[in-house]
Amino acid sequence: MTSFTFQANTLTCSGIPLDDIGRQCGTPAFIYSEESLQRNISVLKSAFGERGIHVSYAMKANSNLAILGMMRAAGFGVDIVSGGELYLVDAAGFTGKDISFAGMGKTREEMVAALKAEVAQFNVESAFELEMLNQAAEKLGKKPDVLLRLNPDIDAQTHPKITTGLRENKFGMPAEEVFKHFLSREKYPHLNFVGIHCHIGSQILKPLPFIDLVDYLVKYTARLEAAGARITKVDLGGGFGVDYETPFRDILETTPFLGEIADYAAEKLGHYQLYIQPGRVLVANTAVLLTRVIGLKHNDLKTFVVVDGAMTDMLRPSLYGAYHALIPTTRDSGKMTVDVVGPVCETGDYFAHNREISTVEQNDFIALGSAGAYGYVMASTYNARPLAPEILIQSEGSIKIIRQRQTYADFLALNS
Ligand code: LLP
Repeated sequence: MTSFTFQANTLTCSGIPLDDIGRQCGTPAFIYSEESLQRNISVLKSAFGERGIHVSYAMKANSNLAILGMMRAAGFGVDIVSGGELYLVDAAGFTGKDISFAGMGKTREEMVAALKAEVAQFNVESAFELEMLNQAAEKLGKKPDVLLRLNPDIDAQTHPKITTGLRENKFGMPAEEVFKHFLSREKYPHLNFVGIHCHIGSQILKPLPFIDLVDYLVKYTARLEAAGARITKVDLGGGFGVDYETPFRDILETTPFLGEIADYAAEKLGHYQLYIQPGRVLVANTAVLLTRVIGLKHNDLKTFVVVDGAMTDMLRPSLYGAYHALIPTTRDSGKMTVDVVGPVCETGDYFAHNREISTVEQNDFIALGSAGAYGYVMASTYNARPLAPEILIQSEGSIKIIRQRQTYADFLALNS
């Protein structure tokens, strides 16, 4: 269970009715449960941490400073993909030794900033990156640890837009190329080749792709070492999925195979320092996007429920056709089948088509589930819509604004 529960037909978070939060703080708003965040952290710690597998939080899923602070306090490292993320993790108190720098198009400026911050490892995805990083390291007199990202051509059996480990995808390098770089590592004297990184995709709901990945890496690392390379680190990436249909369930129920994968990886690859980089599974079910019904409109085909949240707040339905649960905060025995849409001038601005939900009226609240991952971080200000606030319901039931709503004046700030 997460801390979102119905009490007397009203959806609450740690005992506080979401309607009260909506009236007090306005909508749309992201509402996070600290209890759920701590619960997920402890699940990951016991599944992986206790088997000696280092957890590096993939902050692209959610980079709010308060949430980063919790990940740091848990002893997790952090996986970044840009100079902007490097800046944020510094503000959240992480130091270089906690940071791995992934991403398939790091700029020279970003490499220099990360070298100066002495990040623990660079996950490198191409020959051009090896050249650039080697040069930057030479200039700064550094010798960073490098893992090469291998594209193993394993089908993660997930949505095509978030599959990353197939040959046709832009990520990583083919096995033969990684092999070649390892064996000619003296060409890059300012880099320390220490291991292999893979990330095969996101929202993976079956253990098999991960088991295949471990099997693949067992053979691959053995081949590399037989050819004379020395490997100390293996990074298995992230990608553990969650069940979007049951947003308030515990991740041990929606993603029951975490321990199985951890056991298998520790057994087969435990002679290396092992890393994983989960994002979604740590944060998805810890938040809802609370919206308010602006009005209902009908035509001869449909009823549209127009809410004040939009694709600008949660892009996943529009971008991936992703399913998110829509939960009116007051349970009603009546049902209606509707399209739930936002106010943005795009036909693609919708949260659901032909969805049966409890009856709602103007001014009622609807919570969109599983909004903690890839929600705020993918938001935009299209149609000059201010970014929604982020609100944390602390374990003891108090409300803390962890990011203010953007103001109209903020829109003018960068104009000149
Ligand atoms: N490591 C690397 C190198 C990644 O590229 C990603 C995600 C992760 C770790 C974390 O994956 P996770 O554990 O969160 O699945 N916007 C999409 C998801 C894109 C994921 C990109 N990479 C969505 O909303 O579904």
